[in-house]
Amino acid sequence: MKFFVDTADVQAIRELHDLGMVDGVTTNPSLILKSGRDIIEVTREICAFVEGPVSAEVVALKAEDMIAEGRKLAEIAPNIAVKVPLTWDGLKTCKVLSGEGRMVNVTLCFSANQALLAAKAGATFISPFIGRLDDINLDGLELIQDIRTIYDNYDFKTQILAASVRTVNHAKDCALLGADVMTAPPAVIKSMANHILTDKGLEQFMKDWAQTGQKIL
Ligand code: E4P
Repeated sequence: MKFFVDTADVQAIRELHDLGMVDGVTTNPSLILKSGRDIIEVTREICAFVEGPVSAEVVALKAEDMIAEGRKLAEIAPNIAVKVPLTWDGLKTCKVLSGEGRMVNVTLCFSANQALLAAKAGATFISPFIGRLDDINLDGLELIQDIRTIYDNYDFKTQILAASVRTVNHAKDCALLGADVMTAPPAVIKSMANHILTDKGLEQFMKDWAQTGQKIL
């Protein structure tokens, strides 16, 4: 499973990138707001060191305007994936931009039928939002499973980009269910390294080592 980082915080992306944990980046208007940066500037800075797809989201609502915004965003770098919402206009935009050979990430997906439409419109990525479904007591992971089954049934090439990943269990379950990619905030990716027994075990090893009186260096 590929790891995308869900942030526009350049320093946080760099830290994970240096560890080989970044196969791509996703941003959205809320993350751009949080960064306090200009969308074009910050996206260009990210694309300068991230080799994989970097999603930048359009904000227009009509297809014609979305297409124009998408083309402008795609000019930033060859690895831009234009992010469009899963609306009818978003699907039209997806069809046009993917027909021009651009990567398109169809976002705000909350149903298997929406994912089916995105695949038919030529999406490179479909972004089902797990956490936001869980927030309203629906099952985000069930959606990942349904989309996996549908895409495999018909050999759709659209990649399942599990989004709104909020917990380490979401990350593990996405991998088990065969999501192609997950995008998660840096803190979630980092906390995948944590285990209470690792901490306890290390504490004990350190105590015992101190008693040996030895040094390695
Ligand atoms: C995905 O591309 C979105 O940017 C993101 O995963 C949304 O996550 P949230 O529901 O935690 O805001």
